[in-house]
Parts: sequence; C-alpha cells; structure tokens
Amino acid sequence: MADSVKAAVTRVLYSGYIGEGEEVKAFERELAARLGTPRVMTVNSGTSALHLACHMSVDGAPAAEIITTPITCIATNASIVHNGARIVWADVDPLTGNIDPAEIEPLITDKTQAVMMVHWGGNPCDIGRICGIGRANGVRVIEDAAHALGAMYQGQPVGRHSDFVAFSFQAIKQVTSIDGGCLVCKAPEDDARGRLLRWYGIDRETHEPADLRSEVDVAEAGYKFHMNNVAAAVGRENLRQRFGLLALHDSRRKPRRGPLQAAGARDRRIQGPCPQRCSSRLRGIPAPVAEMRRFLRVSSLHPGRMVGVGIGPGARRGSRHQAREIAVLHDRRGKPTSVRRSLRQRLTDDRRR
Ligand SMILES: Cc1ncc(COP(=O)(O)O)c(C=O)c1O
Repeated sequence: MADSVKAAVTRVLYSGYIGEGEEVKAFERELAARLGTPRVMTVNSGTSALHLACHMSVDGAPAAEIITTPITCIATNASIVHNGARIVWADVDPLTGNIDPAEIEPLITDKTQAVMMVHWGGNPCDIGRICGIGRANGVRVIEDAAHALGAMYQGQPVGRHSDFVAFSFQAIKQVTSIDGGCLVCKAPEDDARGRLLRWYGIDRETHEPADLRSEVDVAEAGYKFHMNNVAAAVGRENLRQRFGLLALHDSRRKPRRGPLQAAGARDRRIQGPCPQRCSSRLRGIPAPVAEMRRFLRVSSLHPGRMVGVGIGPGARRGSRHQAREIAVLHDRRGKPTSVRRSLRQRLTDDRRR
C-alpha cells in the first residue's frame, strides 16, 4: 500500500462525495494512459468486469457457449455460468498454464459466443493467435487479465488487443483499490453499453432534469457494479507507486547467479527481450515468456528451487494460493495431481520421443 493512500483517502472521505464521481473518472484517465487505450471503465471488482464482458458477448443468445480454461480463479468461469452460457473447456499448455490456441479451434460451434483466455500468473497467452481465431469465426475474445496489469505482449501493454480485457484491483493484485477492477472494451459501442450496464442501465452523464433513479427510461436492465471515489483514491495512489517501482526496478536490474543458472537456466533478467516481446509483471518482476518456460522446465527437475523465485508454495500468500488452484484443477481433469509432476512427465515424454 502506497504511503500516500492515507492522505488521499482522508481527502476523499470528507470531500462530501464518496460515491462514483470525479476521483473515479481521474483513475480511469490514468489507467487509460498507462495502458495506452482510449477508454477504461472501472467497476467494483474484476469479477464484475468479467461479468459485463460475458453479458455483452452472450447478448441473450440461446444455448450460448464460451470456450475457456480450467486453470484460473473460479471468478473467470462463474461469470460465464451467471450469463446463462455453457462452459466449454479447452486444454492448457502445461508449461505455462495458459489456454492452448490449438485446443480452441476444434471446439468452436455455431453456439460459441466467445473465447476466454487467462494470463495465468501475469504471463500473457498467445493473444494474437487467439484473436485471429476469434476474428476468423466471428467470435468475441475476452482476456481475463486479473494478474496481468503492466504485462507486455509484442511490445504493447496487455489491454489493447481483444474485444474485452478485464483487470482486477483486489487486495493481492499488482495494484489494489482494496476491491475493484476495470474493463477495457475495444469497440466504443461496447464501452458505452458497459457504462450503462454497470449502473442499472442508467446514463449517469445525462443532463435531463430528472431523478436518475425513478424518472429515466432504462433500455437494458443493468447491475450495481460501479466503483466509488474512495476505492478510486486508493487505486490511483497505488497505481502511481507500482509503476514507479517497476521503472526503478527496470533501471536497476543486475545479472543474477544462482543454482537455477547452474542447472542450465539462463538468467531471465539478463536476457534481451523475448522474441515475442512478452513480459509478465507478476510481483513486479518482468519475466519474458520464453524464459518463464525455460525456468519451469528447470524447476521441474529441481523442485526445491521453485520456492526461491516465488512461483511455488511458500513464497507468499498469493503464490501459495495459486499453486494450490493449479493442483486441484489438474486433479479434476484427471491429469497429474501437481504441476511439478505434470512438467516432469512432459519432460520424460519429450525425451522418449
Ligand atoms: C484469474 C482471476 N480472474 C478473476 C479474478 C477476480 O477478480 P476480483 O477478485 O477482483 O473479482 C481473480 C481474483 O483473484 C483472478 O485471479
């Protein structure tokens, strides 16, 4: 939590306007500037952002299906079910935990309304290929970027590529507003619709001399998903601090030597950019995708080392929680019970081939 949060929250709390107002608009402008997008719509959680994305993708279609990944937080796929769509599981790349584009295309039917990808651990999926599949099949593409604020894909911030990109500002994310999130819609008409949907379907910007709660016509029933000024004040200060820290980190990074490197991993921090120019920002450490893959291979051979760089159990609360989710989900799918074992198996299979 940035030290400056205290003063900012005190200012807003006693300003006479704690609901959705100017502070929220300022947070949206600052997020848009960081992501390099024309518009960002804040909401009260990443789950709400995903819900709006699914709502607009399904758009009332009967028997709708959304292709998604099992390696995620329950919020991703709950939003599909709550919008009346059926979940269709696509398999993941066991080396990244991200949805495998090759698994998506065969699952597309005339009922498919969207493909959902999750940048697991902040490590970007193959966004370009998945968006290409979406375009070729007339299907919307949603990114669950809850872990990926500040991650880069092909030299551009995650947030610029798909029809809908949802970020989370929940307590343990890169930037927290205590609870909160935002949705980036590529199409201006989706953005306009989403802004109505996030507050009952009512246009808060209307200049009609009417009581907004009882005298305006509502074309489409919406939700109460908006962010408030207090959360926005917390988010603004943490956003500034986090991106300041990342810039400092980038300017100070030094080569690192350790057991992983001795085991064959090249140090991801002294590598040049990854060929796809991707990087993850989980816990503030940029990690090019190719290096993450190499790291996972080596970690699977040297399991004890996973802890040291914050991927495995014990590194901190967030990563323990994520490691457990991966393990449980592998169980349900009848695959190996831990990532470590599945990676080892994969390496053994590779060697046999
Ligand atoms: C992958 C993923 N998607 C969605 C969410 C939901 O975000 P929020 O807690 O802001 O609703 C989370 C939260 O942890 C998450 O990890």
